[in-house]
Amino acid sequence: CLQKVDTFLHRSIGTNVVAAQSEATRKDESDEKEKDGRKSLYVVQAERQEQAEKSVLISCNSRTNEKKFLKHLSRHGDIKKHFFYESYGMYAVVEFVNQESVASLLEEAAIPSVSHESMVPFKSRLLSLRNVGSVASPNQQPGQQCQPQTTIPINELIQRLSREESIDQQITSLTEAYQLTEENSRLRFLVCSLLKDIAAAYFPECNIKPFGSSVNGFGKLGCDLDMFLDLDGISGRNIKMPKSGLCLEYQMKRANSERAVTQSILSVIGECVDQFGPGCAGVHKILNARCPLVRFAHQPSGFQCDLTTNNRVAMKSTELLYLYGELDPRVRCLVFTVRCWARAHGVTSSIPGAWITNFSLTVMVLFFLQRRSSPIIPTLDHLRDLAGPADKSVIEGNDCTFVSDFSKIQLHSNTETLEQLLCGFFEFYAAFPFSMKSINIRKGKEQNKPEVAPLHIQNPFENSLNVSKNVNATQLDRFVALCQESTWLLQKSETNTPTPTPWGLASLLLPSQVAGIKSRKKRRREPASERIKSLLESLKNKNEQKTS
Ligand code: GTP
Ligand code: MG
Repeated sequence: CLQKVDTFLHRSIGTNVVAAQSEATRKDESDEKEKDGRKSLYVVQAERQEQAEKSVLISCNSRTNEKKFLKHLSRHGDIKKHFFYESYGMYAVVEFVNQESVASLLEEAAIPSVSHESMVPFKSRLLSLRNVGSVASPNQQPGQQCQPQTTIPINELIQRLSREESIDQQITSLTEAYQLTEENSRLRFLVCSLLKDIAAAYFPECNIKPFGSSVNGFGKLGCDLDMFLDLDGISGRNIKMPKSGLCLEYQMKRANSERAVTQSILSVIGECVDQFGPGCAGVHKILNARCPLVRFAHQPSGFQCDLTTNNRVAMKSTELLYLYGELDPRVRCLVFTVRCWARAHGVTSSIPGAWITNFSLTVMVLFFLQRRSSPIIPTLDHLRDLAGPADKSVIEGNDCTFVSDFSKIQLHSNTETLEQLLCGFFEFYAAFPFSMKSINIRKGKEQNKPEVAPLHIQNPFENSLNVSKNVNATQLDRFVALCQESTWLLQKSETNTPTPTPWGLASLLLPSQVAGIKSRKKRRREPASERIKSLLESLKNKNEQKTS
C-alpha cells in the first residue's frame, strides 16, 4: 500500500517560503536536493510559477472544437499543455512553450465592443473566445473533455470506499479522490499570476505566491486559495550604503507601524482587484484582523481567495507542513482522512467560529505521529538542529529555522499500517488529557498548559500563541466523543471483503450515532437513519446493475 501511496505523492505541489536568505543561495541548494529524487519546495514552486507566466485563461463555449481552438492559438507559437474545465461556463488553460507567444496572442486580442455598457480598459491574460459570424448547431456534441475541479460528493465517496478491500486501501482511495490534481494546482498558480499582474501596476517587482493547503500537500479539491503578496523583491534586495562617498536612496512614504503599511498596501491592492480585476467579485477588505487580508471570489476559477502580505510565519508553517508531508507517504494519507472525517461530522466548518480548523487538526495528526513508540516524523526542534546556514530564518523575533534538505533527515523504522495509525489516532485523542496538557510539535511531547483554554495547541513558530484559541469546550467534547465512537466502530469492523454496506472507513463517514452529540448540519438535514437508508438503497441498486 505504501508503494501505491508513493506513486501519487509527488502529484501534489508545494510552495517555498524564503525569509531572510537570498533566493540565489536557496536555488543552488535546491538543485542539489533534486538529486535525491524529491523536488524541493523551492524548485516545484519556481516551475509552477514559470508555467503560470506562460499561460492564459480563456472562457470558451462548451461546443468549442478543440482542434480548431488549438490551431487558432498555435499561430502564436507552440502549445505545451492545455486543459478544459467548467466553472460557471467552460474555460481553457493554455500554456505556451515560450512567453513571447503570450505577448503575441495579447497583441492580437480585441477590446470588446459593447454599446450599452462601459468598461475598465485593463488588459489581462483572462480572455474570451468569440466565434464571429457562426452559429453553433443545437445538436452539436461537446467539443472537449473537462477536468474536474471539485471533489466527489460524500455519498459517492462512501460508496467508492465500501468497494475497497481493506481499510488501508480505503484511506489511499480517499486521498486519491480528494487531493489536488495537476490541473487544479496549475490553475491556482495561474490565478496568483493573474493577480500579480494587477499588483505589479504599483509594485513591478512583487510576486504573488500561493500558501496554505493549496501548496502544503494537504489541499483538497475546492479548498480556498491563500495568497501571499511578496514585496521582498523590493525591500529585501536593499543595496548597502558605501562606507564613505556619495550615494542615493529612495524617498519613501512612512507609516506608524509595519501593520499600518500592510493595511494600506492591502487596502489599495484590494481596491484595484475590486475595481479593475476581471472575474474578481465580492471583494471584502478585512484589514483589522490579526492578519489583515482581502477576501474575494475569482469567478473564472471558482476559487475563494484570501490575499495577505507580510505574513511570513504562515508561509513558514506551509513549508513545514509540506516537509512533514513529504517525509513519509502515510502522513498525507492520515491527514486527508482525518480532515475528511472531521468535515463529515461538522468538527471543522467553512464558517469561522469555535470549530477546530484544518490547520489545528493537521498539527494534531503530526503530533500523534511524533508520539508513536517508534516516531514516524521528527520533532520541530530536531529539524531545527539539522538546519544549515542557508536555512536560518528569524521572523519578527521568532526562530523559524528548520532543515530543508530531506537527505539530512533520518527516519525511525516504523512499519505500522494506515489502518493501525487511523485507529491509533482516534484512541490517542479519545483519551488525551486535554484539560491539563498542551499539544506541542516543537518538542514532540505534551506540555503543561500555559493558559486556560479547552484545547491548547502551541503555535510551532510563535511559541506564546495557541493556534486553537477559538475552540470552545462543546466543540472539543464533540471531537473527543467522535474519536471514542470511531475507535469503537473500527474495532468492530472485521470484514475484509468489499460489501455493499458501508464498512471500515466508510462507516466512519456516516452520520454519528453518538448519543447527545448534535451536529449542526444534522439538524438541518433529514434524519441520519433516512440518509443511511438512501445510501444503502443506492449501493444496492449499483450492485444490481453490475450483476445484471
Ligand atoms: P484549508 O484552507 O482549510 O484547506 O486549510 P489551510 O491549511 O489552507 O488553512 P487556512 O486557509 O485557514 O490557513 C492558511 C495557512 O495559514 C495555513 O496552512 C497555515 O500555514 C497558516 N495558518 C492558519 N491558521 C493559523 C494559525 O492559527 N496559526 C499559524 N501560525 N498559522 C496559521
Ligand atoms: Mg486555506
